Amino acid sequence: MEHWHHHPIELRAIGLEDMQRAWDIGAQAFSRGERREYSADRFNTDFDAYGVYDEDGLQAQVGVHRYKVFMGNGPVVEMAGVGGVSCLPAKRGRGYIGRCVVYSLEQMQDRGQSISMLFPFSQAFYRKYGWEVGGSRRRYEVPASILHVVKETNIVRAAVVEDAAAIQACYEAFATRYRGMICRNEREWKAILDHGSSHYTYTYLYAPKNVVEGYLTYSKGSYEDTYIREFITLNSTAQRALLGLLHRVDMQVEKFRWHAPSDDALWWNTGHNDISTTIEPICMVRVVDVRAALQLWRTPSALRAGVCVEVIDPHAPWNQGVWEVECEGGSVTVKRGYEIPQVTLDIQALSQAFCGGESLAAIRAARGIEVRDEAGFNAFQQMLSGPPMWMNDGF
Ligand SMILES: CC(C)(COP(=O)(O)OP(=O)(O)OC[C@H]1O[C@@H](n2cnc3c(N)ncnc32)[C@H](O)[C@@H]1OP(=O)(O)O)[C@@H](O)C(=O)NCCC(=O)NCCS
Repeated sequence: MEHWHHHPIELRAIGLEDMQRAWDIGAQAFSRGERREYSADRFNTDFDAYGVYDEDGLQAQVGVHRYKVFMGNGPVVEMAGVGGVSCLPAKRGRGYIGRCVVYSLEQMQDRGQSISMLFPFSQAFYRKYGWEVGGSRRRYEVPASILHVVKETNIVRAAVVEDAAAIQACYEAFATRYRGMICRNEREWKAILDHGSSHYTYTYLYAPKNVVEGYLTYSKGSYEDTYIREFITLNSTAQRALLGLLHRVDMQVEKFRWHAPSDDALWWNTGHNDISTTIEPICMVRVVDVRAALQLWRTPSALRAGVCVEVIDPHAPWNQGVWEVECEGGSVTVKRGYEIPQVTLDIQALSQAFCGGESLAAIRAARGIEVRDEAGFNAFQQMLSGPPMWMNDGF
């Protein structure tokens, strides 16, 4: 019997000529075969697609959005946002997607995308290729009736088109407090703030002295459940002011739902037993290029430390092996190492710690990190400590 292992396949970037077919493979995998015409102008151009070709043409694909993300106060980092991972059903189980994921990783490395994120259908599937669950986020469900109007609620106002830049400035100020928030382009901001074709979008600001200190925005929704696309505040006064606005629509909306970072202050600003909080993973993360990613990271400026680290990453051989990591004056330098490593960890653990998902100590306690020298481990832990992960976009 002929065995599929011997069928030659080709891995390459998907060109324009195959985009309709790529679109249709995605439609079968994600939207039950909904027919949609591919059009280049509707397509996000900050996007790469990699395909698996066999004797029947394109069979499977991995999409990669080109994003930049904030990493605390440091420089923004190029991030490969993986999506649209799909294989035609008759060609599943042959390793097509596994090979395409590894190929995509090599392309990310070549393009200088030093980290990657994705929303997994199965965590186990992507963990195999080096991604790990990043940080956690909170999902709130809050009855509008339990909220309170405060005196600052009286200066909350509906946003107008001209406020877009000030809203974005508020978002970016907030983003430097976390690791992973996306630098949105004009198109992405319009999708959030503009009115939809069938429904208006309602955006409210807390902007004393004309500086936006907080905003929330929502569209559609029902009485039982209205989702706030984004609710960001730079301080507790702004949060309390905007919560008061939500109280004022309690005859139209019974319950609001939104996502917030793991360190959000809602419980202190309006504690109530009827607030439900669910902790859920944000997404999976992966360091694509260990040296480049670490060298972009800003450590506390007073910290001067060094560690010899061994990284295990069989799917990305450029990361594999021993590294001398040093920091001074806020900057990190990474060189190949030749000593016995003080710490050995896999790329999943490093990725999680790097993105602020968990501290190295928590990862070590949960699933083990090999430590030969406690001083080296502590140095590495201090270097990677910083703001938690958060991200509020989907792809
Ligand atoms: C998920 C999907 C992309 C896998 O494609 P595929 O070409 O069959 O995958 P591969 O044959 O390359 O499998 C690679 C590995 O993943 C494993 N795997 C495959 N399907 C899996 C599943 N549903 N859950 C967990 N692991 C799975 C395989 O066992 C294999 O592991 P191994 O190498 O250790 O044996 C395909 O089933 C699909 O298109 N599904 C619908 C769309 C979808 O859900 N995409 C994911 C979006 S995040």
